Amino acid sequence: MCGIIGYAGGQADRNVVEVLSSGLSKLEYRGYDSAGIAIADPSVSVYKREGELEALEEHLPEGTVDALAGIGHTRWSTHGPPSDENAHPHTDCEGRVAVVHNGIVENYRELRDELEAAGHVFESETDTEVIPHLIEAALEQGADPRFAFRRAIERLEGSYAVAAVFHGREEVYATRDQSPLVLGVDDGCALLASDVPAFLEYTDEVVYLEDGQFATIRPSGIEVRDERGALVDVSVETVDWDPEDAGKSGYDHYMLKEIYEQPRSIRECLRGRPRPLEEAVSIEELDGLSRPTEVQFVACGTSYHASLYGARLFRERGVRATAFLASEYDVERLPVDDGTLVVGVTQSGETADTLRALRTANGVGARTLAVTNVVGSSAAREADHTMYIRAGPEIGVAATKTFSSQQVALAMLSSALTDECSRRFVEALRELPDGIQSILDGSNARAVAEEYVGADAYFFIGRGYEAPVALEGALKMKEITYEHAEGFAAGELKHGPLALVSEATPVIALVNGRANTDRMLGNVTEVETRGAPIVAVTDDPGAVAGHADHVLSVPETHWRFYPILANVQLQLLAYWVANRLGRSIDRPRNLAKSVTVE
Ligand code: AGP
Repeated sequence: MCGIIGYAGGQADRNVVEVLSSGLSKLEYRGYDSAGIAIADPSVSVYKREGELEALEEHLPEGTVDALAGIGHTRWSTHGPPSDENAHPHTDCEGRVAVVHNGIVENYRELRDELEAAGHVFESETDTEVIPHLIEAALEQGADPRFAFRRAIERLEGSYAVAAVFHGREEVYATRDQSPLVLGVDDGCALLASDVPAFLEYTDEVVYLEDGQFATIRPSGIEVRDERGALVDVSVETVDWDPEDAGKSGYDHYMLKEIYEQPRSIRECLRGRPRPLEEAVSIEELDGLSRPTEVQFVACGTSYHASLYGARLFRERGVRATAFLASEYDVERLPVDDGTLVVGVTQSGETADTLRALRTANGVGARTLAVTNVVGSSAAREADHTMYIRAGPEIGVAATKTFSSQQVALAMLSSALTDECSRRFVEALRELPDGIQSILDGSNARAVAEEYVGADAYFFIGRGYEAPVALEGALKMKEITYEHAEGFAAGELKHGPLALVSEATPVIALVNGRANTDRMLGNVTEVETRGAPIVAVTDDPGAVAGHADHVLSVPETHWRFYPILANVQLQLLAYWVANRLGRSIDRPRNLAKSVTVE
């Protein structure tokens, strides 16, 4: 949902334009409707273009520029369609201030009316443009830039991460409220961005700005002040992500790279948690969190599918558990008490719907836990407890490695909080990376994709633990191929969806050879009879012989973990269909990685 970056630095070997544009390339997953930068050189020069970053790059100044500070933005449109005018940065009437913004200014209509009445002229349809004009108004009243910035921000209602540069100032001013913003520090320069990978090639020393704090970044370092203007003593943390993790490492797409990273990301997720000798799982950061009487998961999209899987694991261990779509959690009276644990599952830790649900739960006295990938994210900071899935940066908009890490994390969570484990469970957890590797090494998903490109629709079916993965398989297929795909609990087919099935709709059936096999095969037969081609994703080829047109194999594992492995085949299938159709795989149309609006 928009990415912002800022840089202030004086090193001769770093050109401010290059730093900003390289940072934006790492933030494009947050939006790619337009991109722009502004540099204080020392007047304020703005370059912006509709479309992906490449469109902007053709118009950027080449060679050395006489500027030590600048800001950049990549946009996911909310107010006003993608266009050059609506691209950020936005400026005041005189072009002396430029602003980039991620979030939504809810009261922008009323502010704009007020500013227009005072003679300010607007050039865009965005909510953001009120900010530089508010700053301009404060400057006209005699405020200095830092104070003018603060005065403008005080007028805003909504969510925002904002950064601004001023004519003649070699610094960037920034603040946040309910939108992510992280600062980076290094010798002779300072940076800020919506997300760490944007500046990871320059520094791994970061400061997570809190809501309501104001930062000034300069070549000499950073300064953070609280809402009242008092200096804050911030703590600098070191992130342990490798810059290489944020690149494509020779793969054509981030998505493919991230699918192939799963053996490593699962190993990281497991590190130190399963205890073979004790036949137990221990999650150090959750020591002291007691067995809940009830678990409510709140999450969106892929994370919701992982939550459906997690809820089932808890129920099987005798704990009442439900997965809610976070955007639907907001009911009048939530049935929670102090034994309820509300678990927000969110890769980014910044999804607005999930954050709101967690806040709602906190407000009514439930204990909250964030299961997230991003250290220092809003979810991690706001929840009572945090468990990290340790998947490393995920850049592709389609969630892949973070989904498998979420499933593994929730499997461990259900075991740790209920104290129910077995030797086989621990062993099977530890075998997962090898299981995934063998799928990656031997998958025929590309050939199967080739066979069915051009189908009318793709249907995914599964029962029990497989049902959430059927939903996830369909989500992956639709978001990156733009083709029609639906996932169903297999038993539901006959209650309606069967009407859609035909010879032109391949059905991808998750057949777990150790659970529900016969009933699942009954559902496969239902679609087979209607002429649908069957792609069986299975660990039991014998069971599907005579039914399946194609088989995507899954190695043997604990029956509860079959869907974690099977999902890798579905990721590859979606990837290869999208690749064959020439889709924009890492940045599918209309989508953004981190959805920070409700
Ligand atoms: C799917 O591939 C998506 N990227 C999307 O559904 C995502 O899972 C959802 O927006 C929630 O994001 P989060 O995990 O960062 O909260």
